[in-house]
Amino acid sequence: AIDQKVKEVEAKINLSDEQLNSIMLKLMDEMKKGLGKDTNAEAKVKMIPSFVKALPDGTERGSFLALDLGGTNFRVLLVKINEPDAKNSKPNIEMDSQIYKMPEDVITGSGTALFDHIASCMADFLRKLNLLDQKLPVGFTFSFPCKQEGLDHGTLITWTKGFTASGVVGQDIVKMLREAIDRRGEFQCDIVAVVNDTVGTLMSCAHTYPQCKVGLIVGTGSNACYMEKTSNIELLESDDGDMCINMEWGAFGDDGTLDEYRNEYDQHVDEHSLNRGKQLYEKMISGMYMGEIVRLVLCQLTKDGVIFGGLSHDSHLFTAGKFETSYVSQIESFAKVSSKKCDLNAVPGGMTAVQNILASLDIGAIRADCEVVIRVCEAVSKRAAHLCAAGVAAVARKIKANHPEKDDLSITVGVDGTVYKKHPTFSNLMNEKVKLLCKESGVNVDFALSYDGSGKGAALITAVAHRLQRQVV
Ligand code: BG6
Ligand code: GLC
Repeated sequence: AIDQKVKEVEAKINLSDEQLNSIMLKLMDEMKKGLGKDTNAEAKVKMIPSFVKALPDGTERGSFLALDLGGTNFRVLLVKINEPDAKNSKPNIEMDSQIYKMPEDVITGSGTALFDHIASCMADFLRKLNLLDQKLPVGFTFSFPCKQEGLDHGTLITWTKGFTASGVVGQDIVKMLREAIDRRGEFQCDIVAVVNDTVGTLMSCAHTYPQCKVGLIVGTGSNACYMEKTSNIELLESDDGDMCINMEWGAFGDDGTLDEYRNEYDQHVDEHSLNRGKQLYEKMISGMYMGEIVRLVLCQLTKDGVIFGGLSHDSHLFTAGKFETSYVSQIESFAKVSSKKCDLNAVPGGMTAVQNILASLDIGAIRADCEVVIRVCEAVSKRAAHLCAAGVAAVARKIKANHPEKDDLSITVGVDGTVYKKHPTFSNLMNEKVKLLCKESGVNVDFALSYDGSGKGAALITAVAHRLQRQVV
């Protein structure tokens, strides 16, 4: 009976290959709408031109400050691009950085306080490095949807991922940061570029892998960017070369397109979020929501008497947000799951490790409970990996369509984010499904992990822009 109940839940979560194929095709339609002049207004996937056109040509030198806001950590970085060590090799890049806390009341308070906090962290970092008296060029990785009119302007369209700071939506975040730095009066700088984290990740990876054409984030949020032909971007006048498009794919489905694939747990997550009705694709994939989906399924199974017999009503299991996404990654790494069978003996000490995680939520679990928990985690994370694969396949097919002259196109996707990095099977599951969805389409996709975060990419973009002085890079 337990198995039957768990199978029912798995069936609600699982998406078939046909469904994934339809999702891929629907996203391709959305991309087209987003790129079109007359259709952009109605598109949910905004396809935002980033004004990043080209990669560094290797001649950039100097010291750059980078800010990285919007993921798990807020960082301030110093990136030094030095002469290459040997002839013909790439410039040697040195980095230093510090992680600063972003307190909850800053994220959800006033915009002025948010930017004052950023300026104070910058001051602290510059003071430590004895750089307060230098006017450094700054690249700002700001991982939220921003409409850009140039590299050094970014108007926040909407907050995502739990940020709600007031008075920022509709404003130029570069202006807000400049004003905060001026209010502080402790240092000066030259903010040269606003960069989405996907774009920073792509640039950072492309520095190592020249065939890198896509940047992907599967972390707190999920999003992708890719190099598009400028002639296909109808909202731009210019017609030459390529430009990186920040897709903001998290908003895919916000017009109901994905409703037939969403289940009651997805609806609950959305209804209890700070941005109801928004970022529906992201809410099925990313780390901010994955643990919560698992928690909701486990609550249901507990109420149905399938697991955790006699669990007290005040267990943490019944508190929103208590089942962290990092638990999903950890729990799955303690067992092997194959064709709906869960083997808790496959990893020595696996069962105790799962029990310990559950104990931290005041849950006493026997083996059968642990096995169900693992199966639920697996179903939810697998669906996320498959949905993400549908997105990547859509992008890969679009890039292929832009290059009909190439029979066999190989592209690399540069990836970052805690889910991709920490989850034991996410990357393999995504990879496999992308291969399947791109079969016979003439495009071959592989993935490269970004090690340096998007700060390095933002600094590289800043370096190019600084050289070209306010021109499109
Ligand atoms: C980091 C980037 O490496 O990855 C961030 O520098 C980005 O800007 C992040 O947002 C995504 O991962 P997460 O899991 O921290 O949201
Ligand atoms: C959210 C943001 C997007 C960002 C992504 C990953 O979807 O809106 O800008 O790239 O999270 O961090």
